[in-house]
Amino acid sequence: PCYASIEKEKTLAMIKPDGLLGNYTDKIKKVILESGFSILREMKVQLDEANVTLLYAEHSSRSFFHSLIKYMTSGPVFLMVLEKENAISDWRAMIGPTDARKAKITHPKSIRAMCGLDSERNCVHGSDSPQSAVREISFFFGEMPLTGQFLFPVSIHM
Ligand code: PPS
Repeated sequence: PCYASIEKEKTLAMIKPDGLLGNYTDKIKKVILESGFSILREMKVQLDEANVTLLYAEHSSRSFFHSLIKYMTSGPVFLMVLEKENAISDWRAMIGPTDARKAKITHPKSIRAMCGLDSERNCVHGSDSPQSAVREISFFFGEMPLTGQFLFPVSIHM
């Protein structure tokens, strides 16, 4: 017999600098695993301005862009490739609204309500569509990262 393997959906999850500073990594990973995701890859990296500019290119005209770059390069981030059925929308639902202040009111059980502070320091990121998921996963974990330059692994937990 031939057993076809059904590929589940993948998404990119990121714990942002404030999440690492607050030591939320283990707590967030626990919630991820308890929610039925598999963590396929993970790494901790220090992003530079070029990385963040490319990653958030679609927001380059926003008034907060410069501040976002400063914040996202202020310390290391923790990246994970998550897999499960409906991984993209389920992870987005789990993290809650962009503004963590709002999340604390409307989605008190969300991850941003638990560890975020505002729209910038909102602790976690999740790909917002299948296209973004493919782009962001290959950006960080592809053989040729989109930056054309090396990311700087701070330490790798596998
Ligand atoms: S918004 O405000 O609804 O447009 O938010 P969103 O499109 O989800 O935001 C895109 C990313 O930009 C970040 N963001 C900000 N950074 C700094 N300052 C302010 N005011 C701000 N507003 C939004 C936000 O955290 C989103 O990052 P990701 O990593 O995609 O969640």
